Amino acid sequence: MNTNRLSESICKALNDQMTKEAHASQIYLSYASWLNAQGYEGVANFLFRHANEERNHMMKFLEYILERGSTVKISAIPDPGENPTSVYDAFQKAFKQEVDNSESIYEIVKQSFDESDWATWNFLQWFVKEQTEEETLIINMLDKMKIAGGDKVSDQSLYSIDRDLMSTPDEADLAREKTVEEP
Ligand code: FEO
Repeated sequence: MNTNRLSESICKALNDQMTKEAHASQIYLSYASWLNAQGYEGVANFLFRHANEERNHMMKFLEYILERGSTVKISAIPDPGENPTSVYDAFQKAFKQEVDNSESIYEIVKQSFDESDWATWNFLQWFVKEQTEEETLIINMLDKMKIAGGDKVSDQSLYSIDRDLMSTPDEADLAREKTVEEP
């Protein structure tokens, strides 16, 4: 009896996304290592924590493919690419990386909708929310850095940003959690 509950195309898309999450983790590891070497321990700590989150995302895709009786294919993780050139550049690149990842997830959401694969559609809603959170988190960081001068941020501001990021939570508050009393 065939117990595979994923179509070939959905299985491939989920396996590809699993590798993209591993790739995202490598990107954050590489940025964090470079920034740590430049002396930004707080920023590096924030990005090291984020690298772990991406590995968790990878694992969720892996477990889901298995749960649906389908086949996991572990493949090579692409090179993380160039180092950033500054803290500001690292967050700009991180934002682009997250938007690309959101687009990739939206594609699979659409694919699962088109194939009426409601289990996969439902599974992916967690990622739609997670991507909104991750984009929000980085937009908030970029906003703070823009206020501090963007590309021309002073060493003094970078010192404060680095210190704050050491203890900045991994998750951002989303609009859906806001109230009139706590905007
Ligand atoms: Fe798993 Fe940042 O996307």
